[in-house]
Formats: sequence, structure tokens, C-alpha cells
Amino acid sequence: MAPSKKIGILLSGRGSNFEAIADSIAAKRLTAEIAIVISNKADAPGLESALRRGLTALFILSKGRTREDHDAEVIATLKHAQVDLVCLAGYMRLLSPEFVRAFPHRILNIHPSLLPAFPGLDAQKQALDYGAKVSGCTVHFVDEHLDHGPIILQKTVPVLETDDEHSLAKRILEQEHIAYTEAIGLVLSGEIEIQGRKVVRKK
Ligand code: GAR
Repeated sequence: MAPSKKIGILLSGRGSNFEAIADSIAAKRLTAEIAIVISNKADAPGLESALRRGLTALFILSKGRTREDHDAEVIATLKHAQVDLVCLAGYMRLLSPEFVRAFPHRILNIHPSLLPAFPGLDAQKQALDYGAKVSGCTVHFVDEHLDHGPIILQKTVPVLETDDEHSLAKRILEQEHIAYTEAIGLVLSGEIEIQGRKVVRKK
């Protein structure tokens, strides 16, 4: 049997998407191994939960350093861990072009809106304030622009008149947890390829 593919997770906070990926692996819904979890925040709850799960989990300081300097250390750490795929899971930093080039088409991000609508911070509030009737989440390949690369999959969530930011974020998050596992599975299956902006099934 081929060895399972290695995933590196980058996070900055709560880490519920990381947890969902780890749970999917534990439940064998996803064949992969989390080789390393890296946070740029020392007090990220996701880092704590990775350590509790017995995973290799590191804090790599970003504050007060240039993006290039910080990214160089993160890249070296991911390479040392021999990761096949990098998954951003609530990693609230823009990657440098060097980072994107170091893992071509091997970095995924999840974002809580139907991109290209509402990129950036507070996507759920943006959708509510705009009056969108449908929102959701997007898993996409990372390129050098914020919340921008080719879309792997999206899940929709209705925006209800009774919604506030928190209720909408909660319903979107449930879909995020399903979507990330599905997207990682698709990418690791080798059954999809990128054609321009489009992610398509290989013929
Ligand atoms: C998630 O909603 C994720 O989509 C969002 O941050 C949250 C992290 O939650 N990411 C972005 O907005 C990226 N632009 P988590 O730490 O519980 O996974």
C-alpha cells in the first residue's frame, strides 16, 4: 500500500477546521497523515488541541518579522516535515510569493463565503450587510492574491432573515468542516487538475 500523503496545517486561532480534518483522518473518511501543525500565534487554541492529539505542533513567531523572514522559516519547517499538501485552516496571514512558489498547486485555503464574493476579513458579516440571500464556503488553491486561487469546491448556506453574524457563521462553519475534508480527498486522489482558473476532473 502506498504511504499516506502528509499534510501540513497552518492556523492562527480556534482550529475547528484543523480538528475536522484530524477527525476525518481518525474516522478513515480521509486517507492522509497530519505531519505538522504550525501556528503564528503562541496562544492559538488549535495549537493546544494539536498537541493534545499527540501531533507535532509548533509556534513560529510572525510578529515583528518581515513576511519573507517568517515565511522562510515556515517553508523550511514544512519541507523538513516532507509535506505533500499545505492546508491553511484559519491562518490569518497572506503568504509571500516565495511561499506560494515553494508548494506549487499544493496549498489549500478555506474561506467562509462563496468566492469571489466577500474575500478578506469578516466574510459572514460582509454577506449579511450586503443582503445576500445565499452564502457558504469555498475551498481553493492558494495563489499570490488574497482568497483568490482556483476553486476546488463550494458549499452553499441560505442566509435567513433571522440570522446575525454568529448564527450565519455557525451554519457556514458546519459546511466548512465537511467541505475541507472533501476537497483534500479530491486533491490527494490525483483525479483533478487545474486548467487556468478552473479545477476539473482529469479526462
Ligand atoms: C473559518 O471560518 C475560516 O473559513 C476562516 O477563519 C475561520 C477559522 O476557524 N478563514 C478565513 O476567513 C480566511 N480568509 P477555525 O480556526 O475554527 O478553523
